Amino acid sequence: MQYLEVMKQRHSVRKFTDKSLSESIVNELSTQISLVNQMGDLSIELITNEPKAFGSMIRTFGRIKNCRNYLVVKGKNDDFLDWKAGLYGERIVLKAQELGLNSCWVAGGFKQVEGTFTVRTDERVVCYILLGYGENNGISHKTKSFDEVVRQVKYESAPLWFKRGIEAALLAPTAMNKQDFVFAIDADNEEIALVISNGSKYSTLDCGIAASHFELASENSVKLSK
Ligand SMILES: Cc1cc2nc3c(=O)[nH]c(=O)nc-3n(C[C@H](O)[C@H](O)[C@H](O)COP(=O)(O)O)c2cc1C
Repeated sequence: MQYLEVMKQRHSVRKFTDKSLSESIVNELSTQISLVNQMGDLSIELITNEPKAFGSMIRTFGRIKNCRNYLVVKGKNDDFLDWKAGLYGERIVLKAQELGLNSCWVAGGFKQVEGTFTVRTDERVVCYILLGYGENNGISHKTKSFDEVVRQVKYESAPLWFKRGIEAALLAPTAMNKQDFVFAIDADNEEIALVISNGSKYSTLDCGIAASHFELASENSVKLSK
């Protein structure tokens, strides 16, 4: 399936059915997780059949129900961890979507259940990603326009690859749907897109997720700028 199609199908889903992940789905996810961990030097783990971490949690953005599978997004605690978590974590989300699963990034308030995973002393957990078969497939989020998230370039004069990238970035999940990112084309090198983070709590993570969509859809790499 084309990346843009998968991105259009993905919406945050927080309520899940009892259907378990089959062995083949777990295997496919695990392959993608290993790849992504290698690419980003991360240590993302998949936890299955564990209902306690998100048991009966009421959250400001809707109630999480029946979540028994999730990803623990973690890695070495350096300046690039949030960026890489978004850039590579979203690749697992899109793979999950392609496999018919639903998902939701969750940044706060989770509970680490004893014996489920380990975090080395030099590591940090960035967030969790809920996975499973949703009660429904979610709905499209309200979205900003091209001109609201692009600096320097007007839609009419932007190259096709850049337009495709922005279309994909606007489909990306962001914390509280803020879409607080700005893209630009590097003035010195027309082939490089930049995503600019404002440095607020989840903005670097959000920028990584948006950049992930941009890169996959445009086949161009994105640099983070502050
Ligand atoms: C970094 C990040 C953190 C998020 N944290 C939460 C959360 O704690 N609780 C929640 O219900 N949704 C959370 N979300 C989901 C967002 O609310 C959702 O992505 C956004 O509203 C856009 O909707 P969509 O994902 O359906 O496109 C988070 C999303 C991201 C990217």
